[in-house]
Amino acid sequence: MQVIEAIEALRQQRKKLPGTLGLVPTMGALHDGHLALVETARSENDSVLVTIFINPTQFAANEDLDRYPRDLPGDLRLLEQCGVDLVFTPTPEVMYPARYQTYVIVEDVAQGLEGKQRPEHFRGVATVVAKLFNLAQADCAYFGQKDAQQVVVIRRMAYDLNFPLEIKIHPTIREADGLAMSSRNRYLNADERKAAPVLYRALQVVGAAYRSGERQPKILLQKAHDTLRTEALAQVEYVALNDARTLERVESPTDTPLLLSMAVRFGGTRLIDNCLLPLEFNDYAGLTATLGAINT
Ligand code: PAF
Repeated sequence: MQVIEAIEALRQQRKKLPGTLGLVPTMGALHDGHLALVETARSENDSVLVTIFINPTQFAANEDLDRYPRDLPGDLRLLEQCGVDLVFTPTPEVMYPARYQTYVIVEDVAQGLEGKQRPEHFRGVATVVAKLFNLAQADCAYFGQKDAQQVVVIRRMAYDLNFPLEIKIHPTIREADGLAMSSRNRYLNADERKAAPVLYRALQVVGAAYRSGERQPKILLQKAHDTLRTEALAQVEYVALNDARTLERVESPTDTPLLLSMAVRFGGTRLIDNCLLPLEFNDYAGLTATLGAINT
């Protein structure tokens, strides 16, 4: 496994990789959710490139850029065990040299949900991912369902800018008690960690109601709020129901696949989670075919 920091060296080494290439972009502090992406990329491609870069442009000034968890030696050990070919670990100066001034803005699908709470976030994500797509020249890129809106934004960006690669979506990997794996889980104290699986319980309650025929958005959302309210430490930022392809808000009963998503704070830690309704779309092929699917 080769570890590369510089752009020219990445281009040289990438040319030497045989066959199809799977790209897994990450910000490091790898957990089983990332490793599931890497393993899928490994099983579907001849070569695998993982990037580790804590992208400053997707963090607002008041967010956790400075304390975002970092463990490069640990990450590299895990990636070596997974049989990764190349790891790209650029510095911020490599990705955004002095006088850098080009950004990618995705419009409608980046506006609501996370985009509303974090107005600059998707501009940073779309920009860095476009740069990584250009550098990697991959055949497929792998992202986790936990960041569902990110997937929709990246899909839209790749389609609109004619990147010739396939975006694949892996279902969320969870702890035994249902908490979605996230590098930010390590910020939680013991009480917050105990309370955090309430997000998963809320998704399950709504999923069960949907399965038994409930389609009224107001009632489905109410059920999520009622469940979240059972945890005193949970401060809800939003709970929302959107069309899983377009992210348009859903206000009346429909049988099109829906994205139920939420952001909840536990003290200083902000957690997000989501599921697709019906829940049987929470499989690799179903998600890849559904979440952010481009119809035009
Ligand atoms: O999901 C992430 O870890 C990041 O947003 C990504 C896609 C690596 C871009 O910085």
